[in-house]
Amino acid sequence: MDKQHLVIFDTTLRDGEQSPGASMTKEEKLRVAKALEKLRVDVIEAGFAVSSPGDFEAVKSIAETVKDSTVCSLARTTHLDLERAAEALKKANSGRIHTFIATSPIHMKYKLQMTPDQVVEQAVSAVKLARNMIGDVEFSLEDASRSEFDFMCRIIEQVINAGAGTINLPDTVGYGFPEEYAETVGKLIETIPNADKAIFSVHCHNDLGLAVSNSLAAVMKGARQVECTINGLGERAGNAALEEVVMAVRTRKDIFPVETRIDTTQIVPTSRLVSSITGFPVQPNKAIVGANAFAHESGIHQDGVLKFRETYEIMRAQDVGWSTNKIVLGKLSGRAAFSARLEELGIQFESKADLNEAFVRFKELADKKREIYDEDLQALVSEIQVGE
Ligand code: KIV
Ligand code: ZN
Repeated sequence: MDKQHLVIFDTTLRDGEQSPGASMTKEEKLRVAKALEKLRVDVIEAGFAVSSPGDFEAVKSIAETVKDSTVCSLARTTHLDLERAAEALKKANSGRIHTFIATSPIHMKYKLQMTPDQVVEQAVSAVKLARNMIGDVEFSLEDASRSEFDFMCRIIEQVINAGAGTINLPDTVGYGFPEEYAETVGKLIETIPNADKAIFSVHCHNDLGLAVSNSLAAVMKGARQVECTINGLGERAGNAALEEVVMAVRTRKDIFPVETRIDTTQIVPTSRLVSSITGFPVQPNKAIVGANAFAHESGIHQDGVLKFRETYEIMRAQDVGWSTNKIVLGKLSGRAAFSARLEELGIQFESKADLNEAFVRFKELADKKREIYDEDLQALVSEIQVGE
């Protein structure tokens, strides 16, 4: 089966930066943008040009520097927003304006204080205006997961006619559930008469811990762009984590009809860079990029991995940018892991009795210490070798 391309749209520098405490300077944003280009993301949402002079400058300098990814700026549906976005993107090799307006009854009534007709009119004129400024326009229906189906059909059909090439359906408040959200995405694609003229995109927040599941479920129903961030950074509980989306699609090639162009070996270096710049640590048990994601502690698992890696690993640590997987020596480790580590360190015993003695002492030490390092092993071995 020929795989279709899944567009990876990274919004670390825009939605990720909306994470309280994660704001970045222009220079820091530029460093992250270069790393994202190396990672081969298709689209880098570099910021919200109108929001501040600093963000305008950041979008502008990213647009001037990045060549291999499309550079995008967010804009509301107002003339000023669109104009600032277009101005910041002027020198981009490939630029995109991402304009949005809320479409859920609750947002239209209380936040926008606009009627649905006014929202449609504003969306259509913003897309037309944006298309006069740039060739690539994305339109987002903010709070799509709480919007009415028929209203979404109506506005999407019209913004596609006005020139939007990508239609994004954000689960802005992380309310969606995989089957329900994906079914809505699939039904919209089936129902809207001109749906084939646009790429349908998903943008999921993680308030219920479902951002990645919702995104992947929607891909199964026809979404061909996923908006995500490095380490799942983002507003409130964050956005769908890029590394999880990409590695799920790659690891489960057997079920996904799509592939990405991401250089997965750049995932860990990019994750580290974003974490060090924002000061947001990555939890050790975070999928793919957490320190323990490829570490084995239990003796049974260690024995299995040493005999045949795939017994307990579904991905190779090196494929996502780690130098190797990790056998952690601790109180749960067995003789197989202990001996393998000694061998790696070039340590040999003269007799089996000495090896047994070393293993007993290792277990005693491991009961007192959470992790046994190479230096601990070396000390323990030399004690035995000098006959203490
Ligand atoms: O979550 C959201 O709805 C957004 C839009 C601006 C795309 O970030
Ligand atoms: Zn968002």
